Amino acid sequence: MCGIVGNITNKPIKDLLINGLTELEYRGYDSVGIATIGSDNKISIIKNKGKIKDFANKYQNKSLQGNLGIGHTRWATHGIPSETNAHPIYDSDKKLAVVHNGIIENYLEIKKDLIKEGFEFFTDTDTECIANLISSFLKKDYTMIDSITKTSERIIGHAAVLVISEYFPSTIFGFKKGFAGSILVSKNNGEISISSDMQALGFDVGDYVVLEDNEIFLANSNKVEIYTDKKLISKEWKKINEKSELVTKGKYKYFMEKEIHEQPNLFSDNFSGRIDFVNKSISFIDEINKIDLRKFKRIHLIGMGSSYNACLLGSYWIEKIAKIPTVCSNSSEFRYRDPVIEEGTLIIPVSQSGETADTLSASHLMKQSGYDQLSIVNAKNTELDRITNNSIYMRANKEIGVASTKTFMSTLQILFTIALYLAQNSNSKLINNKLFDDYKNIPNYMNNILDNSELIKKISKKYSEYSNFLYLGRGYNYPIAMEGALKLKELSYIHAEGYPAGEMKHGPISLIEDKMPVFAIITDGVYLNKMISNIREIDSRNGNIIVLSNCPDKLDKSWYSDLINFDYTDDNFSPFLSTVCIQLFSIYIAMERNLDIDQPRNLAKSVTVE
Ligand code: G6P
Repeated sequence: MCGIVGNITNKPIKDLLINGLTELEYRGYDSVGIATIGSDNKISIIKNKGKIKDFANKYQNKSLQGNLGIGHTRWATHGIPSETNAHPIYDSDKKLAVVHNGIIENYLEIKKDLIKEGFEFFTDTDTECIANLISSFLKKDYTMIDSITKTSERIIGHAAVLVISEYFPSTIFGFKKGFAGSILVSKNNGEISISSDMQALGFDVGDYVVLEDNEIFLANSNKVEIYTDKKLISKEWKKINEKSELVTKGKYKYFMEKEIHEQPNLFSDNFSGRIDFVNKSISFIDEINKIDLRKFKRIHLIGMGSSYNACLLGSYWIEKIAKIPTVCSNSSEFRYRDPVIEEGTLIIPVSQSGETADTLSASHLMKQSGYDQLSIVNAKNTELDRITNNSIYMRANKEIGVASTKTFMSTLQILFTIALYLAQNSNSKLINNKLFDDYKNIPNYMNNILDNSELIKKISKKYSEYSNFLYLGRGYNYPIAMEGALKLKELSYIHAEGYPAGEMKHGPISLIEDKMPVFAIITDGVYLNKMISNIREIDSRNGNIIVLSNCPDKLDKSWYSDLINFDYTDDNFSPFLSTVCIQLFSIYIAMERNLDIDQPRNLAKSVTVE
């Protein structure tokens, strides 16, 4: 979703801002813009609908002078993606310009008041209120810091904002209210770089500071000051010690294709320090040292999108394996239903980006209520890290494909390992040698799927023209049916529903016909016979069935149209393998339909608005 950059530099400002925005491209966006202040102290803005490369081409001959600027990738919330609505956005006098992540909920009321004061509005954005509000306070002779403070107090909602102004042509200001993504401010030898994430800072060395809720900063080449409640505060500056990782597609056409193929190696990496295959034990010794997981009586998992699906499966595993009552919630629902949480509950928020606004709000609410939390995140130094103060990292490296694949897999693995860890501590008989052998073999089984993916490609091709799909699974593979339907929707824009197969008779069965293929995940275990009954019922109604199974010998070939099979394991482990198959099925269908695999339409990787 929206990304913010800002620079004060001796290097060519336009190129630097565009490079920063390119680093944020993975988040998903639909328009781009930058604003700079030249030696004449005037603001220049260039912006465009569409991708960064189109923006760069359009303005390749436009030179922008000066050494200060801000930039933005916008994901439309208020107003269509267009050049006019793209950020930066001027105030009505064109004396200041802002870029903004988040949503201003009371923007209409503010707009009405400002119009009465004589301000004009030229865009459909809520952001224009911020520009004009700051301007209105400046006109009343408030200082810039006071004007920003008053603006932040007046708006309801979430905002991460940068401001430049002709009145202070050497300074970038910014503020943060609520959860609309991070703002990191860094300095290195008189140069300033500001960004929504670490990767886009552009500095490999230097110091950085993270802006918190209700903080305002001003930065110029001499100093960076941070204020809260109009008071100058001192904050801890940290050393930048993460070299930005150069991610390429390697031999693959798409990042997502590569990310799916990285999963066996990542899976092995995620064993390290957690699973001791020699002594047959599980620990998080170097990771979870601020809380003792064994003291919790209940667990509540929260997440959105694929992270929610992972939470759902995690709740099955933890309950079944560790026998600890565990539930999961969609963060956006959880946040506003006044949740009643029992004492002794551990909250586990899951978010690959660590920036999802709904998950941040939910986690913040739990922090205010005093609950212990352990987050599972991929990106370090994110807002969720800071709220929960305890994180397990996915170790998935940077994921560029907007729709999650390898981060979903890493989350599953961490949740499964937590289940084993908790079971080990209650001396479960489950934690035996066979379990360790099976777990260790999962990457090999994944490789078997990837090495034989031609069959999945062939089947995907056959089904690529269909418009509706139903995904069914039971038990551990019900969340994977949900994830399968989600991946198909995200990548190929095909309508797909994921259901627990038992629910099929309560509605979805009315949809069954030959034009609605059913993707049934059938694994050996307690659900086998129930799933067989389900596909028999579909077959009796002329349904078109694709079976994904680790026990095809237990099924009759006449019961389905197509079969994708994967290695047999204990049912506990089957979701790791069925996941790889549903991912390949979706990506191949989207490739067949010639779609934008890495940046599907309308989607964002960091969803910074509720
Ligand atoms: C977006 C992404 C999904 C992701 C979801 C939750 O919708 O496109 O891939 O699953 O957000 O994101 P999170 O960062 O909280 O895991």
